[in-house]
Amino acid sequence: MALAKFVDPLPIPAVLKPKGYLACAAYYEVRMRQVKQKLHRDLPETTVWAYEGVYPGPTFEVLRHERVKVRWVNDLPDEHLLPVDRTVHGAHPPNPLVRTVVHLHGGEVPAYSDGHPEAWFTRDFREVGPHFRSVVYFYPNIQRPATLWYHDHALGITRLNVYAGLAGFYLIRDAFELELNLPGGRFEIPLVIQDRSFNADGSLFYPRQPDPPVPGVDPSIVPEFFGDTILVNGKVWPYLEVEPRKYRFRLLNGSNSRFYLLSFTSGQPFIQIGTDGGLLEAPVPVAELTLAPGERADVVVDFSAFAGETIRLVNGAAAPFPGGDPPTEDTSQVMEFRVTLPLSEPDTSTVPSSLRPIERFSPAAAALTRDLALVEAQDPFGRLLLLLDGKRWSAPVSEKPRLGSVEVWRLINLTEDAHPIHLHLVQFQILERRPFDVDRYRSRRELVFTGPPVPPDPNERGLKDTVRANPGQVTSIIARFGAFAGQYVWHCHILEHEDHEMMRPYEVVPVPLCTKFGPVPPGPKRRAILQRQFLNEACDVPDP
Ligand code: C2O
Ligand code: CU
Ligand code: CU
Repeated sequence: MALAKFVDPLPIPAVLKPKGYLACAAYYEVRMRQVKQKLHRDLPETTVWAYEGVYPGPTFEVLRHERVKVRWVNDLPDEHLLPVDRTVHGAHPPNPLVRTVVHLHGGEVPAYSDGHPEAWFTRDFREVGPHFRSVVYFYPNIQRPATLWYHDHALGITRLNVYAGLAGFYLIRDAFELELNLPGGRFEIPLVIQDRSFNADGSLFYPRQPDPPVPGVDPSIVPEFFGDTILVNGKVWPYLEVEPRKYRFRLLNGSNSRFYLLSFTSGQPFIQIGTDGGLLEAPVPVAELTLAPGERADVVVDFSAFAGETIRLVNGAAAPFPGGDPPTEDTSQVMEFRVTLPLSEPDTSTVPSSLRPIERFSPAAAALTRDLALVEAQDPFGRLLLLLDGKRWSAPVSEKPRLGSVEVWRLINLTEDAHPIHLHLVQFQILERRPFDVDRYRSRRELVFTGPPVPPDPNERGLKDTVRANPGQVTSIIARFGAFAGQYVWHCHILEHEDHEMMRPYEVVPVPLCTKFGPVPPGPKRRAILQRQFLNEACDVPDP
C-alpha cells in the first residue's frame, strides 16, 4: 500500500510529569495500554501498545543525580496484538502470552531495576517471571547526561512488544550541558525512526512466518523484519516546519532490524555532538550518519542558509546491513523539513568547539580480554540461529567482570551481517575494528588478522552502549563494569536476533568487604565499596 509522503506534521512526545515526590526521589507511574492511534492521514486508526496511551511514549526529562522511581504498570489485554512464536525462549507455555518488562536502554541502574528479560510481569502483576525483583524501579541518574530510551524487554517477545509501540525517550541533563548554550527548548526535538508495515485496515502487519515458511512451527519467528514504511515519532513520513536557525535533534533508531544511513537532500552535514552515552569531546560534521538499531546520535542541524527550502532526510542503508538490498523508493525516505517559519528571535545558540572531555580507558588497565565470537548455528526446527560465543541464553553465566574492573571485549563476527551489540549497565568505548581471516577462525579457532586495525569513526569516539560489529571484523570495546553489581544482559539489538537466542546474561560480581586477608581497611577503597553497596541496597526498600 502506497501512502502519501509528508502529509502529516511531526508529533513531538509530551514530557512526562512525576506523580509526586517521595522522601528523596521523583515518583512516576507509567501504564501500558492498548489504544488506537492515527499514524497517517489516509490510514484508518491503528491499534498500538503505548506507554501512557501514546506511541511513542512520553519523554522523561531528568537531571543528573536526581533520584527517580517509576512504577511501570501493565494494563494490556491478555491476548497479544501480534503473532507469538511459542517455540522461542521465554515464550513457551505455560508462560503467559502477554508479558512486559521495561528496560532503560543506556541507563546505569541497579540490577533489580534494569528490566531483566525474565523480570517480566503481566497485567496487575498477576504473574511474574523467575527474575522478578521489584514493582517500582529506581533510576539514580548518576551517569553523564545522555539520550537514553526506555522500551520493552520481555524474553522472547521483545520484538513484538517494541513493534507494537512500547518505546520512549529518557533524557538526562545537567548544568554543565545547559551552560554550553546548545539549541534548546522548542528547538530541541527527539526523533525516533522506525519501520512498520500496515494492513489495508490500518492494523500493524508483522509476519507470522518467514519466507519460505518453517514446517511445523506456526507462528514462527522471522530472521529479521523490515517494514515498507518509515515512521518518525509514530507518524508515517512526517514533515516538520522549522525556522532558518539551528536545531538540536536526538536521533534514535528504534527499528527492529533496519539500519539507517541518513543524509540531507540539501547536502548539509549533521553536526554530531553526542553518542549513546553523552556528549563527544568535540563536534563532528557527518555527511552520512549510520544508525544501527538501538543507537542514538545527538546532532545539531543548521537551517539558517535554507530559508524557504524543503529538505528531506533520506536513508541509503541496505537491508540486511551492509550486504543486503538497497532501500526502495519508499524506505529511502524518512521525513521532510520545511524551512518556512519566520525566525522568531535571533539564534544565539552555539555549538562550542569543545564539548565535554572524556576519560579514555587504556587497554593496559584491563583486567581481562574476552574473545566473544558471533556465530551461526541452527535450532531444532532448522532455523538459522545467531549465537553469542556459541552459547544459548540458558547456558550458565560465563561473563563475570568484577565490580569496578576494566575489561576489553573482542567481538569476532563470523556471520554475513553487521550486528549492533549492546551491553546493559555500562557505557563503553570502541578501541578499534580489525579484519580477520573468518575461515581460519571457523576451522581452527585461530584469530589471524588480515589488515591493520581501524580506529572508530570520528563520531564514534564517545561513550557507547551499542556498537556495530561488522562482518569479517573483530570489534574491540573497553568498559569499566559498575557502578552496580548483579545480573545484566548483553545482546544483539536486532530484536529478531535478540528474541532468538542472540542474548546472554552477564554478571558483575561485587568486591567483598572482607577478603581472606581480613576486612578491607578504612580508606578510599572501602568507602567506594560501601558507597556502591549503599546505592544497591538503599534502593531495595519497597515503596508504598
Ligand atoms: Cu535497548 Cu537490552 O536493550
Ligand atoms: Cu539496554
Ligand atoms: Cu544480530
